[in-house]
Amino acid sequence: MKVDVLLGLQWGDEGKGKVVDVLTPRYDVVARFQGGPNAGHTLEFEGKKYVLRSIPSGIFQHGQINIIGNGVVLDPVLFRQEAEELEKSGVDLRSILRISKKAHLITPTHRLLDAANEKAKGGKKIGTTGKGIGPTYTDKISRNGLRLGDVYHNFNEKYATLRSLHLARLATLDANPGDELAELESKWMDAIEYIKTYQIVDSEHLVNTLLAEGKSVLCEGAQGTLLDIDFGSYPFVTSSNTISSGACSGLGVAPNKIGEVFGIFKAYCTRVGSGPFPTELFDETGKTIRDLGHEYGAVTGRERRCGWIDLVALRYAIMLNGVTQLIMMKSDVLDGFDEIKACVAYKINGEETRQFPYSIEEEIEPVYVTLPGWKTDMTRMQSEEEFPTQFKAYIEFLERELSTPITIVSIGPDRKQTIVRK
Ligand code: GDP
Ligand code: IMO
Ligand code: MG
Repeated sequence: MKVDVLLGLQWGDEGKGKVVDVLTPRYDVVARFQGGPNAGHTLEFEGKKYVLRSIPSGIFQHGQINIIGNGVVLDPVLFRQEAEELEKSGVDLRSILRISKKAHLITPTHRLLDAANEKAKGGKKIGTTGKGIGPTYTDKISRNGLRLGDVYHNFNEKYATLRSLHLARLATLDANPGDELAELESKWMDAIEYIKTYQIVDSEHLVNTLLAEGKSVLCEGAQGTLLDIDFGSYPFVTSSNTISSGACSGLGVAPNKIGEVFGIFKAYCTRVGSGPFPTELFDETGKTIRDLGHEYGAVTGRERRCGWIDLVALRYAIMLNGVTQLIMMKSDVLDGFDEIKACVAYKINGEETRQFPYSIEEEIEPVYVTLPGWKTDMTRMQSEEEFPTQFKAYIEFLERELSTPITIVSIGPDRKQTIVRK
């Protein structure tokens, strides 16, 4: 069997959590391969809403195995909070969840370093989620990191070594922690004991054994392609490979085992944190999209910046990921618009290009095509036959521009507000 991958094509928050939940019944296994509690994946069904951060979005269906892969970075304290809440709502997490021994641990000092690094950058700050993501991946790459499997191998000594390294770094940033550190560490160590009550496994062996047994696997991406460490709007990116190749390195799955790649995008575009955003709208339209789309961070509550859909960036994302099917989210947010714009090219120094450039921090003038709106409430529709003509035309336009079929359209936050196209 092959693994299918589902990931975001924009700057995150495309609606990955919702769609993973919807697709889970088709699979035996759901696995996260990168990122950590910087993610906030929202699911809504039966009048309830859940936000998942480190735990995969396949936990609410029919007992599928859910895996946190080696490419994920895990904060034990936040994991515990998330897991305890889920257990309270009746999810038998211990029986369905497996966590990789090779997942790196986010320590309290990683979070302090994240804050100190941001402060040191001043006006050039990334606008991180403050969860210690960058410093944890930095330690992984510089071979200083602490892995979950280390809890069984001289853990206290390894923790102490990393801690001293961090305290020295914090001192150079003039960010010596106060008394609060001892309290944070004690909570963190308790959470380590809690996490040890879960099934901590060699997830690369587990995934490959399951595939060999004919089980189907869906890999759930976090963040989005434009936040990828290599190909995103560097340096305003996250610290992991969010693209489909990240599923290989983040789970131990070989490239020839990748099957379908589902690329998710919103019918418009959003971004949280700093960094360039060529189609950003600073006017009333941007505000209207934010209000109608409830575009506020799932975890941080931060306002999301809003703009028109960017097909230059989407074509680039489709190329990098090898997207085989597109999933369009939040089209209902545009239900009331008279006209909708789509950026089909960039004008840079007077020259028009359809190719995503090295840097989008330069002066970019988006070249827009204007399409008529559909002016119809689509949120209760049951099938694509009910779609208004103008909406069908919008889908056809996007499929032509992106040379990829749109196979699912989401028309509201609930599980049921999802139309699978024939
Ligand atoms: P993720 O990080 O990619 O999982 O996305 P988030 O959960 O951070 O953000 C997506 C937001 O849009 C959540 O509040 C979802 O409940 C909501 N949402 C998802 N799909 C739709 C949709 O089709 N229409 C509307 N109106 N909201 C949606
Ligand atoms: P999901 O999985 C949107 C953004 C942050 C910041 C940059 C770096 O819910 O789509 P980090 O804390 O990762 O070092 O922050 O990346 N960012 C996200 N934006 N959705 C996310 O996750 C994000 N995770 C990180 O806002 O700009
Ligand atoms: Mg999110």
